Amino acid sequence: MAIKFGRPIELRDAPKRQTALASPPLDLTIRPRRNRKAEWARRLVRENVLTTDDLIWPLFVVDGHNVRTPVASMPGVDRLSVDQAVRDAERAAKLNIPCIALFPYTEASLRDEQGSEALNPDNLVCQSVRAIKKEFPDIGVLCDVALDPFTSHGHDGLIEDGRILNDETVAVLVKQALVQAEAGCDIIAPSDMMDGRVGAIREALDAESFGDVQIMAYAAKYASAFYGPFRDAIGSAKTLTGDKRTYQMDSANSDEALREVELDIAEGADMVMVKPGMPYLDIVRRVKDTFAMPTFVYQVSGEYAMIAGAARNGWIDGERAMMESLVGFKRAGADGILTYFAPQAAEKLRERE
Ligand code: PBG
Repeated sequence: MAIKFGRPIELRDAPKRQTALASPPLDLTIRPRRNRKAEWARRLVRENVLTTDDLIWPLFVVDGHNVRTPVASMPGVDRLSVDQAVRDAERAAKLNIPCIALFPYTEASLRDEQGSEALNPDNLVCQSVRAIKKEFPDIGVLCDVALDPFTSHGHDGLIEDGRILNDETVAVLVKQALVQAEAGCDIIAPSDMMDGRVGAIREALDAESFGDVQIMAYAAKYASAFYGPFRDAIGSAKTLTGDKRTYQMDSANSDEALREVELDIAEGADMVMVKPGMPYLDIVRRVKDTFAMPTFVYQVSGEYAMIAGAARNGWIDGERAMMESLVGFKRAGADGILTYFAPQAAEKLRERE
């Protein structure tokens, strides 16, 4: 389903002829508006550019064949059966989007306390990776590492007496990462926020001859209300017990993000990520300035829903809001963006070529 963005707003450059002035001109030498006088001039001095190379497109996969089920809280986003995920990978390849990310909607009957389905080499994610890589070997595939799509309680880790167990969870995440690498995944992206998982996964990947598999660490991931629609999409919204605040970060913190990022880099992360995006642009900037690492940002489901939902209602110009939000990430220092808008943005960028 395509997103409706409403009518484009016509913006014209300032009229060439000034109307009669009510008061005499100011005696100004420096007039910053000169550089904004026409589109060619604005293009010339533009500091940041968004390109298709910056985009990672997250897809949701579901069991079945020829299935595209709309996610109600994410207008324009569908859950896809594996064959349809391959079609979207084809769309990504044609649009020159460098990488896609995969998230599964796991049947309730396959979810358990331990998230065992995460370790099934034939689970939806692994099936999708194999199918996509077979047809489109040149597109990058990123897989999320965390247990929440697979657990009956919706948490990212193992639970005992209501506590999320760190080290026991890391041991399972290592196995999940190996299963995904075996399926052909290019980038392992741990999103669980357990301590020490990046180092443990790196060591295991290297020991099992997956030395080329990259790690993009969800390094500064905040406990956020903006993940709501994503949890609808993977079916964990209703089952989640409590919240994720004992492992995801407190939104009031900024120095702590630098410590988290520093640890993940020391443990072997090739790329780091800040998540969510728009409420955390200051974190993106600090991380980029401090570490000069390939820095990514996730424009999460709730951010997408706000823009796509308001656009659908005709309350904002969705296309312009989308592009403005994406270039905002570039301005904040991001090298790349995970965004559900990836195909629309790539189409828009192609028009400009
Ligand atoms: C799972 C995970 C989440 C997202 C990505 N990986 C949700 C969560 O932590 O609850 C959120 C993505 C989005 O909202 O678009 N650990």
